[in-house]
Amino acid sequence: MKNILEAPFMVETVRTLTNLYRLGWDERNGGNLSVLLDEEEVSQYLDTSCVIRDIPMTFDASAIVGKIFLVTGTGKYFKNVQYDPAHNLGIIKIGEDGRTAKLLWGYTDGGRPTSELPAHLLSHITRLAIDPSHRVVMHTHPTNTIAMTLIHDLSERAITRTLWQMQTESIVVFPEGVAVLPWMACGTNEIGEATAEKLKKERICLWAAHGIYGVGKDLDEAFGLIETVEKAAQLYMLSVNAGIKNGITDEQLKELAGVFGLDYRKEYLD
Ligand code: 13P
Ligand code: ZN
Repeated sequence: MKNILEAPFMVETVRTLTNLYRLGWDERNGGNLSVLLDEEEVSQYLDTSCVIRDIPMTFDASAIVGKIFLVTGTGKYFKNVQYDPAHNLGIIKIGEDGRTAKLLWGYTDGGRPTSELPAHLLSHITRLAIDPSHRVVMHTHPTNTIAMTLIHDLSERAITRTLWQMQTESIVVFPEGVAVLPWMACGTNEIGEATAEKLKKERICLWAAHGIYGVGKDLDEAFGLIETVEKAAQLYMLSVNAGIKNGITDEQLKELAGVFGLDYRKEYLD
């Protein structure tokens, strides 16, 4: 067996989590990440039939039975992952009953997957049905994005319009707009189901006064979506008090959509 700490999916995940911490978005145990792995690739590093222990789940994941995920541990700090991946991360396989996570590697202190496992796995189910190349669900607490949810109208149309107006890149990167959930208690099946439902239409979902979810076919794509939203939110927070005079207009956004051939949310522009 090859050394799992040198597996490309492990190296890239650890780098990504370290980067998220360095950006100041994942204080303490804030944020969580799950990556759908390829069984054949994982088999080079692990015996995927060797289960360390069963971890019960409180929701139905039967649509992804047998799938294998690398998942951050609950209560674990992104800051620490690079120094001890096996303590802070785990690899789980979804059991035949759709209600058990079979631990194949990691959580060496007896830990468990993130408390947001319902949001992660239910979102994987949603996105795989839309896009078979989907792999990553990323949840983080980007400062300006959260600040924006504290002061801005939370309608999806209004918040998407503001994000699009702040920088040319926004409508190009997320032409479908962003979904928004009003404040809800986190770590529950309810917020997991609501997030997965939102991700049917958009690849980004803001959680008011909490953070953001982004999805993608790889870590770069999920991260790139989130950092583009966060940059727009930062521009908004930097300029809102001075009065925004030169935001991108609806006409200009339409021009951009034409130049880039974007399939954007038409009803979001006047
Ligand atoms: P976990 O430590 O359980 O992953 O929770 C962190 C978090 O961000 C909750 O939304
Ligand atoms: Zn969170």
